[in-house]
Amino acid sequence: MAPVDVRWKFLPGMGLLVWVAVLLWPVNATGQDQGPYQGLKDQKMVQKLKSFPHKANRWNVPPEDGRLLYDLILENGYRRVLEVGTSNGYSALWMGLALKQTGGELITIEINEQRAREAELNLKQAGLSEVVDVRLNDALDEIPQIKGAFDMVFLDADKSQYLQYYRMLNDKISKGGAITAHNVSNMGFAMDDFLKALRGDPQYETTIRRVSSRGVLIARKIKEGEQ
Ligand SMILES: C[S@@+](CC[C@H](N)C(=O)[O-])C[C@H]1O[C@@H](n2cnc3c(N)ncnc32)[C@H](O)[C@@H]1O
Repeated sequence: MAPVDVRWKFLPGMGLLVWVAVLLWPVNATGQDQGPYQGLKDQKMVQKLKSFPHKANRWNVPPEDGRLLYDLILENGYRRVLEVGTSNGYSALWMGLALKQTGGELITIEINEQRAREAELNLKQAGLSEVVDVRLNDALDEIPQIKGAFDMVFLDADKSQYLQYYRMLNDKISKGGAITAHNVSNMGFAMDDFLKALRGDPQYETTIRRVSSRGVLIARKIKEGEQ
């Protein structure tokens, strides 16, 4: 029998190593998470985010977009936030965890009873019932009933209604605050009127962050004397 080339003996082991590397891809050599959880020191919080019960037909934001909202709240010290389109509460979980740190609160509106109840339960289990107020209603009816200003709003409900939400909320956004909106990259066609109106509004400076394929618009209301 011809002698086996010694290099072939290592092949199965090398294959195994490749698989281990692929499985450990989200974790670097120091055991720290990469991607959307990178730098989050509170491991209980990371656990809450990772164990969120995602389901089909709940249309949750990707974790990268949740992290973007989380960072936006912390970096700006935002305290009063409104979400339009709760579903079962995944983006509300990210924002609620940030608002717990700034001492703020989130009001989030959902039209569908089943999803609103799921959100309440998910947020309760994450210890955020005191921070997040889930309102079961059509946002078009609920928004006019909410008093006071918001530091940030996050639009993630019916894309064809974004223009209406913006018109109803414009006067309620504090200077230095922001309107943020989801799916501006992959569903921009359904909210053309909204994007056009916001880009033409000199009160705002607008950017689009594409940390996921969905695209998050951030329109920051300019403070007096900034321009
Ligand atoms: C894309 S999902 C929201 C996902 C959620 N932000 C998350 O990341 O977990 C959109 C939700 O908006 C709700 N919705 C649609 N139109 C609405 C309206 N007019 N008022 C309140 N909620 C609405 C839908 O029922 C749906 O649950």
